[in-house]
Amino acid sequence: MKAAVWYKAKDLRVEKVEEPQVNGKHDVKIKVGWCGICGSDLHEYAAGPIFIPVDAPHPISGGQAPIVMGHEFAGEVVDVGSAVTKVKPGDRVAVEPILAPHENGRYVDAKYNLSPQLGFHGLSGGGGGFSEFTVVGEHMAHKLPDELSDEQGALVEPAAVAVHAVRQSSLKVGDTAAVFGAGPIGLMVIDALKAAGASAVYVVELSKERQQKARNLGGIIVDPERAVDDIHADCGGVDVSFEVTGVPKVLNMALHSTHTGGEAIIVSIWESEASFQPNDLVIAERTMKGIIAYRDIYPQVMELMKSGFFSADDMVTSRIGIDDVVDSGFEALLHDKSHVKIMVKPS
Ligand SMILES: NC(=O)c1ccc[n+]([C@@H]2O[C@H](COP(=O)([O-])OP(=O)(O)OC[C@H]3O[C@@H](n4cnc5c(N)ncnc54)[C@H](O)[C@@H]3O)[C@@H](O)[C@H]2O)c1
Ligand SMILES: [Zn+2]
Repeated sequence: MKAAVWYKAKDLRVEKVEEPQVNGKHDVKIKVGWCGICGSDLHEYAAGPIFIPVDAPHPISGGQAPIVMGHEFAGEVVDVGSAVTKVKPGDRVAVEPILAPHENGRYVDAKYNLSPQLGFHGLSGGGGGFSEFTVVGEHMAHKLPDELSDEQGALVEPAAVAVHAVRQSSLKVGDTAAVFGAGPIGLMVIDALKAAGASAVYVVELSKERQQKARNLGGIIVDPERAVDDIHADCGGVDVSFEVTGVPKVLNMALHSTHTGGEAIIVSIWESEASFQPNDLVIAERTMKGIIAYRDIYPQVMELMKSGFFSADDMVTSRIGIDDVVDSGFEALLHDKSHVKIMVKPS
């Protein structure tokens, strides 16, 4: 079967790899329907490795570069191990790609996304969604409701990041928020904030096309050059801001856009250091907090999707085959910010 394999930064190859098979009794083999390209995939492609193990095998997957990429996917179960009870062949599933200690078809730790061994299927070895078939643990497979397509199922992963970010924040219904960066994750944070009952969501984004997407979701677009001043003039500073650009200077803007006692949530993964003046926290009693991935949230995300949140119609701007994943996928996303989510069909 064909797969997109990461060798090193800027070296992603579509090549033939061996089709994986069910080995363990809790294994689930999936024929991938759609797999999205994520901002984190782009970081690995442009400036990696970040999550990809290169010097030693990942403790859970046992794999190291070169590795098959793709962690935002859904598809059909085609084979299961003898002890699997959660899903059966023919079921459609969205995959929770978190690699963390697991036993008897379940994650071991309550906060499994904070495991020191954290990895991701599709970033940390052991297979990935940019391939016709992949094998995951039963604990990672979530049955897709009939109402949701495979393509919508491939959006559960990034939507889960956004829902977790908002749930981990101090935002209460009626509060104000600002989202810095309206890429796929930022757009989903806007939608999650709407679901959570934010009264106003200010959005700071450079790309006109992405600004329009944010506006369609109900965001109030702010000029990136005057964002902090304009937000303070309009509402006196927001209750919670979300940094979703990964651009060092924007970290300060996200912090400054909140009122005294406000909170800045950092969602971005960083390619370099970013500095800020600690007094901006201290003298204003602000809080800054990071979030990684999600935990125990896939069923809720799928329910929100059934009500129309995180819709593929709002997010997907291109659909491609695996042979085009480098030029029409990774390179297109790096250079053309009119794209939001590009979906890859591996077979
Ligand atoms: N914490 C997690 O678990 C987690 C999970 C998934 C993704 N991420 C990270 O979240 C970040 C966002 O992901 P994405 O897929 O949306 O990425 P993306 O690169 O598509 O989006 C970033 C957006 O920021 C905008 N931007 C850049 N500079 C700006 C500026 N000065 N002012 C305003 N906007 C600006 C860009 O135009 C772009 O639209 C990435 O760093 C990604 O790695 C984190
Ligand atoms: Zn992702």
